[in-house]
Amino acid sequence: MDLGIRGRTALVCASSQGLGRGCAEALAAAGARVIINGRDEARLAQTAEAIAAATGAEIISVVADVGTAPGRATLLAAAGEVDILVNNNGGPPPADFRELTHDRLLAGVEANMLTPIALVQAVIDGMVERRFGRIVNITSGSVKMPSAGLDLSSGARLGLTGFLAGVARQVAHANVTINGLLPGSFDTARIASFEADAIAKRGVTQEQVREERLQKIPARRLGQPEEFGAACAFLCSAQAGYITGQNLLIDGGAFPGVL
Ligand SMILES: NC(=O)c1ccc[n+]([C@@H]2O[C@H](COP(=O)([O-])OP(=O)(O)OC[C@H]3O[C@@H](n4cnc5c(N)ncnc54)[C@H](OP(=O)(O)O)[C@@H]3O)[C@@H](O)[C@H]2O)c1
Repeated sequence: MDLGIRGRTALVCASSQGLGRGCAEALAAAGARVIINGRDEARLAQTAEAIAAATGAEIISVVADVGTAPGRATLLAAAGEVDILVNNNGGPPPADFRELTHDRLLAGVEANMLTPIALVQAVIDGMVERRFGRIVNITSGSVKMPSAGLDLSSGARLGLTGFLAGVARQVAHANVTINGLLPGSFDTARIASFEADAIAKRGVTQEQVREERLQKIPARRLGQPEEFGAACAFLCSAQAGYITGQNLLIDGGAFPGVL
């Protein structure tokens, strides 16, 4: 399927590995010019090379901390006019909610709510003027199904979701869409670090931790970043212009609700 975004500029934040990388790869395969981002220069360069070789697309790598104002300014300067924005960032480390100091709470809100809002504010008027814009926010399945220890992640992302629900309705008239993608359990470094943490704290084996996780997922497997990227690319397609203000769970059936 031709997604109708050949030549569009896509800014994919936090994309040197994992879900962000999955999105960058799928957008590059659809013919977009993609700006990828991370803080580790060597990993980012390797990823840029791999995506460019696999897709032939123009890939621009920007080493920057997306959670800081100067980092975001660097990203936006490198991108120029942004047609597609994929908001992503690292998530807060798991913690008992009692241990979250005021500073840690602020850092979580800054990273997972205020950072994506700042980027939306920066790109949205240009999208409206040009009558095309696609914004996808990578949030989390924990927005719909809270998980103990990830309370800050759930709360900050739910705040983002509510904020952008209103914004989406203010820009839909100009063919600018804003949607959320809510990952369940995907095979990335973040999940590996959660599992390593559980192994260290509870003295269980890797196999036990993985089995416990898979038992909660009807698909009985982790998701792959490529599957996530494909859904993202569709939401960014020309054809998806009538899908806005939605939050799509991609979790192998883990959320037990009907709607
Ligand atoms: N994987 C899952 O199953 C899952 C489930 C629910 C929610 N999520 C959320 O989805 C997001 C992506 O998760 P993931 O699993 O793909 O994580 P990951 O594999 O750890 O990858 C994170 C990516 O973000 C980059 N990054 C992190 N902090 C950054 C910053 N301040 N500025 C720029 N780049 C930054 C990392 O590169 P550098 O370290 O080099 O900067 C890396 O490329 C996270 O917010 C996570 O909480 C993931």
